[in-house]
Amino acid sequence: MSVADLRREYALARLDEGDVSPDPIAQFSRWFSEALAAEVEEPNAMVLATATPEGSPSARVVLLKGVDERGFVFFTDYRSLKGAELEANPRAALVFRWSELERQVRITGGTARTDKEESEEYYRSRPLGSRLGAWVSHQSRPIPSRDVLERGLAEMERRFAGGEVPLPPHWGGYRVRPEAIEFWQGRPNRLHDRIRYVREKEGWRIERLAP
Ligand SMILES: Cc1cc2nc3c(=O)[nH]c(=O)nc-3n(C[C@H](O)[C@H](O)[C@H](O)COP(=O)(O)O)c2cc1C
Repeated sequence: MSVADLRREYALARLDEGDVSPDPIAQFSRWFSEALAAEVEEPNAMVLATATPEGSPSARVVLLKGVDERGFVFFTDYRSLKGAELEANPRAALVFRWSELERQVRITGGTARTDKEESEEYYRSRPLGSRLGAWVSHQSRPIPSRDVLERGLAEMERRFAGGEVPLPPHWGGYRVRPEAIEFWQGRPNRLHDRIRYVREKEGWRIERLAP
């Protein structure tokens, strides 16, 4: 079978202007709960797109670790490629794809680092191995071999043996403050439902987009 022959009809559900919450974060939470209930695999996995100030883009998957009226939070190494791009150009796009529900959510907005307390609180909740790993790996740097990581981990295990593993200074969160959020529900004949929220001075404008 050729790639071009792969296609699927979407018919599970519909999305109407009258049904959505006036608040996109409430709408997101509703869809997220439904993704959990449907046992979508890693429902908090999202594609994060960033760009250089010249507009050269890059994208990768990260995990959503918090969401509220302030925005969408993920954690990473500030020295990584995404970190460098976000420091120079603090804007991002996020995409969730919940295949089992024939849904997609797209978010764009400005970004800011989470404060140290928030990063610390999340860092402390991570398993020991992940906490040590954040000390070992300078994310996105070329390394000569896997060995470097294994030796680095052993060294960190010795360094922090028995004691607390502190938050590395290069590690923490970013929050994407949404300016637009689009909810996409697959429909028959490629005539999908798309409802977009656009932030206005006060509140949100809600509009339907052509599929
Ligand atoms: C399911 C999944 C979840 C991931 N979660 C994260 C994450 O939360 N934070 C992170 O820094 N990288 C995460 N990664 C790894 C990133 O995709 C990426 O490889 C890494 O962050 C380096 O990206 P960069 O070089 O563009 O900065 C995840 C990858 C996958 C496949």
